[in-house]
Amino acid sequence: MISIPFCEYNKLFSPYVEDLLNITQNIIKGGFFIMGPDLQDFEKNFAKKIGARYAVGVGNATDGLEMLLAAHDMPEGAEVLVSSHTMTATASAVVSSGGRPIPVDIDELGMMDPSDLHKHLTPRTWAIMPTQLNGAICQISELKNFAEQHNLLVFEDSAQAFGASLNGEFAGNFGCGGVFSFYPAKILGCLGDGGMIVINDEEKFRKLRSMRDHGRTVNGDVSVDGRNSRLDNLQAAYLNYFLNNHFDNWIEHRKNLTVFYDTEFAKIEEVSVPKYNFREGHNSVFQNYEILAENRDELEVFLRTNGVSTLRQWSGKPIHQLEIFSSNTSLVKTEEYFKRYIMLPLNHAITKDQVTMISRLVCEFYAKN
Ligand SMILES: Cc1ncc(COP(=O)(O)O)c(C=O)c1O
Repeated sequence: MISIPFCEYNKLFSPYVEDLLNITQNIIKGGFFIMGPDLQDFEKNFAKKIGARYAVGVGNATDGLEMLLAAHDMPEGAEVLVSSHTMTATASAVVSSGGRPIPVDIDELGMMDPSDLHKHLTPRTWAIMPTQLNGAICQISELKNFAEQHNLLVFEDSAQAFGASLNGEFAGNFGCGGVFSFYPAKILGCLGDGGMIVINDEEKFRKLRSMRDHGRTVNGDVSVDGRNSRLDNLQAAYLNYFLNNHFDNWIEHRKNLTVFYDTEFAKIEEVSVPKYNFREGHNSVFQNYEILAENRDELEVFLRTNGVSTLRQWSGKPIHQLEIFSSNTSLVKTEEYFKRYIMLPLNHAITKDQVTMISRLVCEFYAKN
Protein backbone atom coordinates (compact mmCIF):
# COMPACT_ATOMS: atom_id res chain seq x y z
CA MET A 1 0.00 0.00 0.00
CA ILE A 2 1.16 3.53 -0.67
CA SER A 3 2.01 5.86 2.18
CA ILE A 4 1.76 9.62 1.64
CA PRO A 5 2.06 11.60 4.89
CA PHE A 6 0.55 15.07 4.93
CA CYS A 7 4.03 16.57 5.04
CA GLU A 8 7.31 14.69 5.06
CA TYR A 9 9.39 17.06 7.17
CA ASN A 10 12.53 15.00 6.63
CA LYS A 11 12.27 15.65 2.88
CA LEU A 12 11.74 19.42 3.00
CA PHE A 13 15.37 20.39 3.29
CA SER A 14 17.40 17.21 2.84
CA PRO A 15 18.19 17.91 -0.85
CA TYR A 16 20.10 21.02 0.32
CA VAL A 17 22.02 19.45 3.17
CA GLU A 18 25.48 20.12 1.71
CA ASP A 19 24.79 23.82 1.25
CA LEU A 20 23.18 24.07 4.68
CA LEU A 21 26.20 22.44 6.31
CA ASN A 22 28.49 24.95 4.58
CA ILE A 23 26.34 27.82 5.79
CA THR A 24 26.38 26.39 9.33
CA GLN A 25 30.15 26.03 9.27
CA ASN A 26 30.60 29.64 8.17
CA ILE A 27 28.36 30.89 10.96
CA ILE A 28 30.19 28.80 13.57
CA LYS A 29 33.56 29.98 12.37
CA GLY A 30 32.46 33.60 12.11
CA GLY A 31 30.75 33.55 15.54
CA PHE A 32 27.71 35.42 14.22
CA PHE A 33 24.89 33.99 16.28
CA ILE A 34 22.67 36.86 17.42
CA MET A 35 21.80 39.98 15.38
CA GLY A 36 24.50 39.09 12.85
CA PRO A 37 25.08 40.21 9.27
CA ASP A 38 22.98 37.39 7.79
CA LEU A 39 19.93 38.67 9.66
CA GLN A 40 20.45 42.16 8.29
CA ASP A 41 20.96 40.81 4.82
CA PHE A 42 17.88 38.61 4.98
CA GLU A 43 15.71 41.44 6.31
CA LYS A 44 16.77 43.57 3.37
CA ASN A 45 16.11 40.84 0.81
CA PHE A 46 12.79 39.90 2.36
CA ALA A 47 11.52 43.49 2.33
CA LYS A 48 12.73 43.98 -1.24
CA LYS A 49 11.01 40.83 -2.48
CA ILE A 50 7.59 42.19 -1.47
CA GLY A 51 8.20 45.90 -1.84
CA ALA A 52 8.06 46.73 1.88
CA ARG A 53 10.22 49.50 3.31
CA TYR A 54 11.31 47.69 6.47
CA ALA A 55 11.47 44.16 7.82
CA VAL A 56 12.23 43.02 11.37
CA GLY A 57 13.18 39.39 11.99
CA VAL A 58 11.58 37.94 15.12
CA GLY A 59 11.39 34.63 16.99
CA ASN A 60 8.08 33.54 15.45
CA ALA A 61 4.97 35.06 13.87
CA THR A 62 2.95 34.95 17.09
CA ASP A 63 5.47 37.20 18.85
CA GLY A 64 5.49 39.36 15.72
CA LEU A 65 1.71 39.89 15.88
CA GLU A 66 1.90 40.86 19.56
CA MET A 67 4.74 43.29 18.91
CA LEU A 68 2.97 44.82 15.92
CA LEU A 69 -0.09 45.57 18.07
CA ALA A 70 2.03 46.88 20.92
CA ALA A 71 4.03 49.12 18.58
CA HIS A 72 0.73 50.79 17.68
CA ASP A 73 -0.10 51.33 21.37
CA MET A 74 -3.17 49.14 21.40
CA PRO A 75 -5.43 50.40 24.20
CA GLU A 76 -6.35 48.01 27.03
CA GLY A 77 -9.65 46.26 26.20
CA ALA A 78 -9.52 47.21 22.51
CA GLU A 79 -11.47 44.93 20.21
CA VAL A 80 -9.76 43.53 17.15
CA LEU A 81 -11.82 41.86 14.42
CA VAL A 82 -10.20 38.60 13.30
CA SER A 83 -11.25 35.90 10.88
CA SER A 84 -12.97 32.87 12.36
CA HIS A 85 -10.84 30.69 10.04
CA THR A 86 -7.37 31.33 11.40
CA MET A 87 -4.85 29.87 13.77
CA THR A 88 -5.43 30.45 17.46
CA ALA A 89 -2.23 32.57 17.35
CA THR A 90 -4.06 35.45 15.62
CA ALA A 91 -6.58 35.69 18.43
CA SER A 92 -4.20 34.87 21.28
CA ALA A 93 -1.84 37.65 20.14
CA VAL A 94 -4.72 40.09 20.71
CA VAL A 95 -5.44 38.63 24.16
CA SER A 96 -1.83 38.72 25.29
CA SER A 97 -1.62 42.34 24.18
CA GLY A 98 -4.54 43.23 26.45
CA GLY A 99 -7.29 43.26 23.84
CA ARG A 100 -10.27 41.18 22.82
CA PRO A 101 -10.39 39.22 19.56
CA ILE A 102 -13.79 39.34 17.85
CA PRO A 103 -14.25 36.52 15.33
CA VAL A 104 -15.88 37.48 12.02
CA ASP A 105 -17.53 35.11 9.53
CA ILE A 106 -15.84 34.03 6.29
CA ASP A 107 -16.62 34.44 2.60
CA GLU A 108 -16.37 31.90 -0.21
CA LEU A 109 -12.58 32.29 -0.21
CA GLY A 110 -12.52 31.03 3.39
CA MET A 111 -11.31 34.43 4.59
CA MET A 112 -12.71 37.41 6.51
CA ASP A 113 -16.03 38.46 4.99
CA PRO A 114 -16.29 42.26 4.61
CA SER A 115 -20.08 42.04 4.67
CA ASP A 116 -19.99 40.54 8.17
CA LEU A 117 -17.92 43.30 9.79
CA HIS A 118 -20.67 45.76 10.53
CA LYS A 119 -22.54 43.68 13.03
CA HIS A 120 -19.42 43.22 15.17
CA LEU A 121 -18.64 46.93 15.37
CA THR A 122 -18.75 48.48 18.88
CA PRO A 123 -17.31 51.69 20.37
CA ARG A 124 -14.32 49.59 21.47
CA THR A 125 -13.47 48.29 17.97
CA TRP A 126 -9.92 49.45 17.30
CA ALA A 127 -8.57 47.38 14.40
CA ILE A 128 -9.16 44.58 11.96
CA MET A 129 -6.61 41.85 11.49
CA PRO A 130 -7.53 39.60 8.55
CA THR A 131 -5.58 36.44 7.85
CA GLN A 132 -4.15 35.95 4.38
CA LEU A 133 -4.97 32.27 4.35
CA ASN A 134 -3.55 29.32 2.45
CA GLY A 135 -1.14 31.48 0.43
CA ALA A 136 -3.86 33.79 -0.89
CA ILE A 137 -5.14 37.30 -0.28
CA CYS A 138 -8.54 38.10 1.23
CA GLN A 139 -10.99 40.79 0.03
CA ILE A 140 -8.56 43.37 1.29
CA SER A 141 -9.81 46.48 -0.58
CA GLU A 142 -13.31 46.00 0.84
CA LEU A 143 -11.89 45.46 4.33
CA LYS A 144 -9.75 48.56 4.03
CA ASN A 145 -12.72 50.65 2.88
CA PHE A 146 -14.64 49.54 5.94
CA ALA A 147 -11.66 50.31 8.18
CA GLU A 148 -11.32 53.77 6.68
CA GLN A 149 -15.01 54.53 7.15
CA HIS A 150 -14.83 53.54 10.81
CA ASN A 151 -11.40 54.83 11.64
CA LEU A 152 -9.88 51.42 12.33
CA LEU A 153 -6.33 50.22 11.88
CA VAL A 154 -5.59 47.27 9.59
CA PHE A 155 -2.98 44.61 10.40
CA GLU A 156 -2.35 41.49 8.36
CA ASP A 157 -1.69 38.04 9.66
CA SER A 158 0.28 37.02 6.58
CA ALA A 159 1.91 34.02 8.26
CA GLN A 160 0.79 31.85 5.31
CA ALA A 161 1.19 34.28 2.46
CA PHE A 162 4.76 35.41 1.81
CA GLY A 163 4.90 36.48 -1.84
CA ALA A 164 1.14 36.45 -2.49
CA SER A 165 -0.12 39.52 -4.32
CA LEU A 166 -3.28 41.21 -5.52
CA ASN A 167 -3.08 43.68 -8.41
CA GLY A 168 0.67 43.90 -7.92
CA GLU A 169 0.55 44.63 -4.18
CA PHE A 170 1.98 42.07 -1.80
CA ALA A 171 0.58 40.55 1.38
CA GLY A 172 1.91 42.44 4.38
CA ASN A 173 1.80 45.85 2.68
CA PHE A 174 -1.91 46.60 2.66
CA GLY A 175 -2.31 48.08 6.13
CA CYS A 176 -0.20 49.24 9.07
CA GLY A 177 1.98 46.15 8.99
CA GLY A 178 2.09 42.42 8.32
CA VAL A 179 3.59 39.38 9.96
CA PHE A 180 5.01 36.18 8.42
CA SER A 181 5.95 32.79 9.81
CA PHE A 182 8.98 30.64 8.95
CA TYR A 183 7.63 27.51 10.62
CA PRO A 184 9.28 24.69 8.60
CA ALA A 185 6.15 23.76 6.60
CA LYS A 186 5.53 27.34 5.52
CA ILE A 187 6.15 28.44 1.93
CA LEU A 188 9.45 29.88 3.08
CA GLY A 189 10.31 27.83 6.14
CA CYS A 190 13.41 27.54 8.29
CA LEU A 191 14.91 24.74 10.38
CA GLY A 192 12.96 25.71 13.50
CA ASP A 193 10.88 28.71 14.49
CA GLY A 194 11.13 32.15 12.96
CA GLY A 195 9.04 35.13 11.89
CA MET A 196 9.15 38.53 10.21
CA ILE A 197 7.29 41.79 10.65
CA VAL A 198 7.07 44.17 7.69
CA ILE A 199 6.20 47.82 8.10
CA ASN A 200 6.44 51.01 6.09
CA ASP A 201 6.48 53.56 8.92
CA GLU A 202 10.02 54.42 9.97
CA GLU A 203 9.28 55.32 13.58
CA LYS A 204 7.33 52.09 14.16
CA PHE A 205 10.13 50.17 12.48
CA ARG A 206 12.66 51.56 14.96
CA LYS A 207 10.34 50.75 17.81
CA LEU A 208 9.85 47.16 16.66
CA ARG A 209 13.57 46.69 16.14
CA SER A 210 14.28 47.58 19.74
CA MET A 211 11.20 45.78 21.07
CA ARG A 212 12.48 42.42 19.85
CA ASP A 213 15.80 43.07 21.58
CA HIS A 214 14.74 43.88 25.16
CA GLY A 215 13.68 47.38 24.16
CA ARG A 216 17.28 48.45 23.68
CA THR A 217 18.38 51.10 21.21
CA VAL A 218 21.70 51.25 19.36
CA ASN A 219 23.19 53.60 21.97
CA GLY A 220 22.32 51.28 24.85
CA ASP A 221 19.20 53.01 26.19
CA VAL A 222 16.05 51.05 26.90
CA SER A 223 13.38 53.04 25.15
CA VAL A 224 10.36 50.72 24.97
CA ASP A 225 8.89 47.76 26.77
CA GLY A 226 10.73 44.95 25.04
CA ARG A 227 11.26 41.22 25.05
CA ASN A 228 13.73 38.76 23.64
CA SER A 229 12.40 37.63 20.27
CA ARG A 230 15.12 37.86 17.65
CA LEU A 231 15.34 35.77 14.50
CA ASP A 232 18.55 33.72 14.92
CA ASN A 233 21.34 34.71 12.57
CA LEU A 234 21.75 31.04 11.60
CA GLN A 235 18.06 30.71 10.64
CA ALA A 236 18.30 33.99 8.73
CA ALA A 237 21.26 32.60 6.78
CA TYR A 238 19.29 29.47 5.85
CA LEU A 239 16.28 31.57 4.89
CA ASN A 240 18.38 33.87 2.75
CA TYR A 241 19.80 30.86 0.95
CA PHE A 242 16.30 29.41 0.36
CA LEU A 243 14.93 32.77 -0.76
CA ASN A 244 17.75 33.44 -3.22
CA ASN A 245 18.08 29.94 -4.64
CA HIS A 246 14.90 27.92 -4.28
CA PHE A 247 11.85 29.95 -3.30
CA ASP A 248 10.64 30.79 -6.83
CA ASN A 249 11.01 27.16 -7.96
CA TRP A 250 9.14 25.95 -4.88
CA ILE A 251 6.22 28.22 -5.68
CA GLU A 252 6.24 27.07 -9.31
CA HIS A 253 6.16 23.44 -8.16
CA ARG A 254 3.25 24.13 -5.78
CA LYS A 255 1.44 25.98 -8.56
CA ASN A 256 1.81 23.10 -11.04
CA LEU A 257 0.50 20.61 -8.51
CA THR A 258 -2.41 22.89 -7.63
CA VAL A 259 -3.37 23.24 -11.29
CA PHE A 260 -3.21 19.46 -11.59
CA TYR A 261 -5.46 18.93 -8.54
CA ASP A 262 -7.86 21.62 -9.83
CA THR A 263 -8.09 20.00 -13.27
CA GLU A 264 -8.65 16.53 -11.85
CA PHE A 265 -11.38 17.74 -9.51
CA ALA A 266 -13.15 19.91 -12.08
CA LYS A 267 -15.11 16.82 -13.10
CA ILE A 268 -16.24 15.99 -9.55
CA GLU A 269 -19.42 17.79 -8.60
CA GLU A 270 -18.99 17.04 -4.90
CA VAL A 271 -15.63 18.86 -4.66
CA SER A 272 -15.12 22.64 -4.64
CA VAL A 273 -11.56 23.70 -5.35
CA PRO A 274 -10.07 26.92 -3.85
CA LYS A 275 -11.70 29.91 -5.53
CA TYR A 276 -8.95 32.52 -5.05
CA ASN A 277 -6.77 30.94 -7.74
CA PHE A 278 -9.23 32.14 -10.36
CA ARG A 279 -9.45 35.78 -9.27
CA GLU A 280 -8.40 38.51 -11.67
CA GLY A 281 -5.08 40.10 -10.65
CA HIS A 282 -4.45 37.55 -7.89
CA ASN A 283 -1.21 35.62 -7.43
CA SER A 284 -1.38 32.88 -4.85
CA VAL A 285 1.71 31.20 -3.42
CA PHE A 286 -0.18 27.95 -2.82
CA GLN A 287 0.60 27.41 0.85
CA ASN A 288 -2.17 24.84 1.26
CA TYR A 289 -4.61 22.98 -0.91
CA GLU A 290 -7.87 23.26 0.97
CA ILE A 291 -11.01 21.95 -0.71
CA LEU A 292 -14.64 21.69 0.31
CA ALA A 293 -15.87 18.13 -0.08
CA GLU A 294 -19.24 16.43 0.27
CA ASN A 295 -19.07 13.34 2.51
CA ARG A 296 -15.84 14.80 3.86
CA ASP A 297 -15.60 12.47 6.86
CA GLU A 298 -15.96 9.35 4.68
CA LEU A 299 -13.47 10.75 2.17
CA GLU A 300 -10.97 11.28 4.98
CA VAL A 301 -11.35 7.69 6.17
CA PHE A 302 -11.12 6.36 2.60
CA LEU A 303 -7.90 8.27 1.96
CA ARG A 304 -6.41 7.27 5.31
CA THR A 305 -7.26 3.61 4.67
CA ASN A 306 -5.45 3.92 1.37
CA GLY A 307 -2.34 5.47 2.91
CA VAL A 308 -2.97 9.19 2.35
CA SER A 309 -2.97 11.62 5.28
CA THR A 310 -5.08 14.74 5.13
CA LEU A 311 -5.57 17.58 7.60
CA ARG A 312 -8.31 19.81 8.95
CA GLN A 313 -6.76 23.15 9.77
CA TRP A 314 -6.84 24.11 13.44
CA SER A 315 -7.98 20.54 14.27
CA GLY A 316 -11.39 21.35 12.85
CA LYS A 317 -12.23 24.21 15.25
CA PRO A 318 -12.82 27.79 14.17
CA ILE A 319 -11.87 30.64 16.51
CA HIS A 320 -15.42 31.41 17.62
CA GLN A 321 -15.86 27.85 18.87
CA LEU A 322 -12.76 27.88 21.05
CA GLU A 323 -13.91 28.19 24.64
CA ILE A 324 -10.87 30.20 25.67
CA PHE A 325 -12.03 33.16 23.58
CA SER A 326 -15.60 32.84 24.91
CA SER A 327 -17.17 34.60 21.95
CA ASN A 328 -20.64 33.02 22.22
CA THR A 329 -21.40 33.83 18.61
CA SER A 330 -22.65 31.65 15.84
CA LEU A 331 -20.99 32.19 12.47
CA VAL A 332 -23.06 30.25 9.99
CA LYS A 333 -20.85 30.39 6.91
CA THR A 334 -17.80 29.32 8.91
CA GLU A 335 -19.69 26.44 10.45
CA GLU A 336 -20.87 25.24 7.03
CA TYR A 337 -17.33 25.56 5.63
CA PHE A 338 -15.82 23.65 8.54
CA LYS A 339 -18.21 20.74 7.93
CA ARG A 340 -16.72 20.20 4.46
CA TYR A 341 -13.16 21.55 4.47
CA ILE A 342 -10.14 19.30 4.18
CA MET A 343 -6.54 19.87 3.11
CA LEU A 344 -4.81 17.50 0.72
CA PRO A 345 -1.01 17.19 0.83
CA LEU A 346 0.81 20.05 -0.94
CA ASN A 347 4.37 21.21 -0.36
CA HIS A 348 7.57 21.74 -2.30
CA ALA A 349 8.86 18.22 -1.58
CA ILE A 350 5.84 16.18 -2.65
CA THR A 351 6.11 14.68 -6.14
CA LYS A 352 3.76 14.82 -9.11
CA ASP A 353 3.41 11.01 -8.87
CA GLN A 354 2.24 11.29 -5.28
CA VAL A 355 -0.26 14.02 -6.14
CA THR A 356 -1.48 11.91 -9.08
CA MET A 357 -2.11 8.99 -6.71
CA ILE A 358 -3.99 11.22 -4.27
CA SER A 359 -6.17 12.66 -7.05
CA ARG A 360 -6.95 9.19 -8.39
CA LEU A 361 -8.09 8.08 -4.96
CA VAL A 362 -10.35 11.14 -4.57
CA CYS A 363 -11.87 10.46 -8.02
CA GLU A 364 -12.30 6.78 -7.14
CA PHE A 365 -14.09 7.68 -3.90
CA TYR A 366 -16.67 9.89 -5.63
CA ALA A 367 -17.13 7.41 -8.51
CA LYS A 368 -18.18 4.81 -5.90
CA ASN A 369 -20.23 7.06 -3.62
C1 LIG B 1 -2.45 32.04 10.04
C2 LIG B 1 -1.34 31.84 11.04
N1 LIG B 1 -1.11 32.79 11.96
C3 LIG B 1 -0.12 32.66 12.86
C4 LIG B 1 0.70 31.57 12.88
C5 LIG B 1 1.75 31.45 13.93
O1 LIG B 1 3.03 31.37 13.39
P1 LIG B 1 4.27 30.96 14.31
O2 LIG B 1 4.20 29.48 14.50
O3 LIG B 1 5.48 31.38 13.53
O4 LIG B 1 4.15 31.70 15.60
C6 LIG B 1 0.51 30.55 11.93
C7 LIG B 1 1.36 29.35 11.93
O5 LIG B 1 0.95 28.24 11.63
C8 LIG B 1 -0.54 30.69 10.99
O6 LIG B 1 -0.78 29.74 10.07
